[in-house]
Amino acid sequence: MRTPFVAGNWKMNTTKSTAVDLAKGVAKSAAATVDIGIAPPFVYLDAVGQAIAGSRVLLGAQDVYFKPNGAFTGEISVEMLKDLGVRFCLAGHSERRHVIQEPGDLISLKAHAIYAGGLILVHCVGETIDQREADETLPVVRRQFDELSEKISDPARLIVAYEPVWAIGTGRNATDAQAQEVHAFLRQELAVRWNKDFADRVRIVYGGSMKPDNAGALMNQADVDGGLIGGASLKADSFLGIVAAAEKKRA
Ligand code: PGA
Repeated sequence: MRTPFVAGNWKMNTTKSTAVDLAKGVAKSAAATVDIGIAPPFVYLDAVGQAIAGSRVLLGAQDVYFKPNGAFTGEISVEMLKDLGVRFCLAGHSERRHVIQEPGDLISLKAHAIYAGGLILVHCVGETIDQREADETLPVVRRQFDELSEKISDPARLIVAYEPVWAIGTGRNATDAQAQEVHAFLRQELAVRWNKDFADRVRIVYGGSMKPDNAGALMNQADVDGGLIGGASLKADSFLGIVAAAEKKRA
């Protein structure tokens, strides 16, 4: 049985004081049976890390640069994140792929740097609405898997987030069946590229307009092992409502 993973991606939101309050609200009621994480903006990582110290909540980063140090103006390294207590980091989030225009080869370098540095890699994949309508969803996510290699060998430190671009921040989530179809396909791809045991251990979480009222049904799907939450992670109550759905799955 895979331990569900539920993480909040706060994106470019909060102030220092609202970030600390939100983090404390999450930490206070964090469930014991699922893995919970929050990924605040870089500049609040330190304060949020202190706010959740001693709790079960994992500190996460939304992005990182793949080089260890040097002349890379504006960038942040894996070692810097670890210095602040970061435990997981996203790579390939849809907004970095499509808004910031990050190419697949850069995402691949980041993913491997995150893993090699000892952090949990949360690798995000997902199709645009045009790709879905052209029936290209599975080939697209399969191609995005080419960003990963067998160097990523510990299934406990790889989490795949399936996030259809058209569902992110739109209020229109994938149906349970749409999510399950892609998650099952991704698990099969993991088995082909690594092996079945590895595939059975990797958490595959869903993201895209997940809310307390749709989280239970999505997480009831056999291959949905939790969620990556944007908008609904900005209030402790709604985020914890989704955590509660994950706990039910675990029970
Ligand atoms: P959303 O974002 O929950 O606001 O749709 C999800 C994500 O981008 O991780």
